[in-house]
Amino acid sequence: MIERKNEVEKRKVTTEDRLLHGGDYNPDQWLSYPDVLKQDVEFMKLAHANTFSIGMFAWAALEPEEGVYDFEWLDEVIERIHSIGGRLILATPSGARPAWMSQKYPEVLRVDSYRRKQLHGARHNHCYSSSYYRKKTQEMNTKLAERYGDHPALLMWHPSNEYGGECHCELCQANFRTWLKEKYNHSLDELNHSWWGPFWSHTITDWEQIESPSPIGENAVHGMNLDWRRFVSHMTIDFYKNEIEPLRKITPDIPISANFMSDNPEFVPFTGLDYSQFAKEVDVISWDAYPAWHNDWEDTPTLAARTAFLNDHFYAMKDQPFILMESTPSAVNWHDVNKAKRPGMHLLSALQMHAHGSDSNLYFQWRKSRGSSEKFHGAVIDHDQSTENRVFKEVAELGKIMENISDKVTGYRRQADVAILFDVESNWALDDAQGFGLKTKQYGRTLQKHYQAFWEEDIAVDVISKEHDFSKYTLLVVPMLYLMSEETAEKLQTFVKNGGTLVTSYISGIVDESDLTHLGGWLKPLKETFGMEPLETDTYYPSDRNTLDFNGKEYEVKDYATIIEVNEANVLGTYTEDFYKGTPALTENPYGKGKAYYIGARAEHAFHADFYGKLIRDLKLEPALSVEHERGVSVQGREAEGLRTVFIMNFTESEQPISILETVKDVQTGETMEGKRTLQPYEVLIVEKEIGN
Ligand code: GAL
Repeated sequence: MIERKNEVEKRKVTTEDRLLHGGDYNPDQWLSYPDVLKQDVEFMKLAHANTFSIGMFAWAALEPEEGVYDFEWLDEVIERIHSIGGRLILATPSGARPAWMSQKYPEVLRVDSYRRKQLHGARHNHCYSSSYYRKKTQEMNTKLAERYGDHPALLMWHPSNEYGGECHCELCQANFRTWLKEKYNHSLDELNHSWWGPFWSHTITDWEQIESPSPIGENAVHGMNLDWRRFVSHMTIDFYKNEIEPLRKITPDIPISANFMSDNPEFVPFTGLDYSQFAKEVDVISWDAYPAWHNDWEDTPTLAARTAFLNDHFYAMKDQPFILMESTPSAVNWHDVNKAKRPGMHLLSALQMHAHGSDSNLYFQWRKSRGSSEKFHGAVIDHDQSTENRVFKEVAELGKIMENISDKVTGYRRQADVAILFDVESNWALDDAQGFGLKTKQYGRTLQKHYQAFWEEDIAVDVISKEHDFSKYTLLVVPMLYLMSEETAEKLQTFVKNGGTLVTSYISGIVDESDLTHLGGWLKPLKETFGMEPLETDTYYPSDRNTLDFNGKEYEVKDYATIIEVNEANVLGTYTEDFYKGTPALTENPYGKGKAYYIGARAEHAFHADFYGKLIRDLKLEPALSVEHERGVSVQGREAEGLRTVFIMNFTESEQPISILETVKDVQTGETMEGKRTLQPYEVLIVEKEIGN
């Protein structure tokens, strides 16, 4: 087992000692309502709110005409927030443009993949190549940094909003070609080899023939599609770096974030950009979380586990606390059905964020808009302008609790012995693959299913990328890593050789980093590490079933089953049906100082629970606190300097008996406790325990 340090230092990601509570504040929508602006500040105090992100969509208010700036309204708003001891996350407004700009400089407008120039409107749709837009964002950000850089309320920068999307204009085409020339050493032969050019006579003979993927043009060259996704990430990050240049220069001590997101409404890791690369450029990771609580297709514990997974993904990106930049205190306006959070859910879902590494609970938005598309999106202040409604009261109650627990949470770290690998490049390639089941690949969802088995046992997990250091983990779970370079395969082999336990699954190690299949069967490092080789992947119709026989129990298999040839590996499980009945479905191979497991089939949840349960026991993995409970209660902790703060959360709609097997102290009341208790529906208990060396 890998030794873990008991004494971890706090890692405060901002200069603020408190947990941050507040959110997106859009006073520019209310400038002709002075009473509303005054009321906002009064209500901020009542909500126990202390931090506001301002200005993400305020370009039209800040620069109403080209070169004519108006910062006075913002000065006033900032002073008001400062006067109540509030802090400021200052946004740059590039997420949406003023109309005058699109009218005068149409190059800022995107061209879509059908090569249609977009009209002015909506948001998050500027061209990342436009030199005018790049110059203007720098100008604007210079002014913001010069004016507010020394303001004592300024806590952090929030450049733009939810970077994403792509542009296919001529400027972007030219940049794509330049990027490709650099990548392929100016060699079309190299490019044609990677893109498998001769297929359908798609050999490129002049760089100018290259056009970004399009439904009305090239879309079948998978290597190109993959490069395009990489290029879009590169361009976005490059735009971001350009945007933040003045901020870095003028305010070197103010941390810079960028609000990341999930793929919605599926609520799986975001695949629009490669966040593992983007994360390197930001100081503080922040994200916008909108789980559909109380939906009618999954139970609350399942959604809680998926939310936890995403949090652990954002925590692991920089191995430090993150900021929850947006969430809703009630309902959103863009799910198919926008259901109100039931009483208690706001508190529970917000505290879950802290349990998994967030140092904030920030909302979109502070006050509900009066008009336009988000007027029914949940907010702290509703159209009734009251502090007496249920939502406001629950927000204020959370604010008080956050104040009480702040010094036992802020900057506290998470410690995980288990990692699950998410690779966005593999996700891109797998989704593009014309094969397997077109609707059943579900990479992100599959990772969340593996994760859930650990969540149910209260075992902390980091959701990492292939670039992370694997050596600090005892167990590494790598399901469905379709795209696997030789380098990654060797890294996995080294991990096992040195004592790690590795699990992979069906549809792994099939193509290389250019989306070309590996020749000669599975990669050598994988064959050696796993002592077996996948021979064939069988894909099932939705009604097809098989069974995996493991440890005397039978588990339902659907969607995928791999036919396996075993060399040195031990067979732990077999198929019970079909022409491969009785052949291996699950293998284990002791290799070097570690072990490697291969799961050949997509099995039901009970299999994950039993299989990972056994690994958890074999590897002596421990939760943050020993608590006996039924499914639906989750125990997660954060620690620093010898103290661990643990959140015991009831994600069910019923009372839950629990038994705490260690002596702990209630963080809020100071009461010492151990043994049996009952958690009310959605109740959270926050306790602390000292951890020795
Ligand atoms: C986010 C966005 C916010 C707001 C919110 C509504 O994606 O950043 O500006 O639109 O969604 O849920």
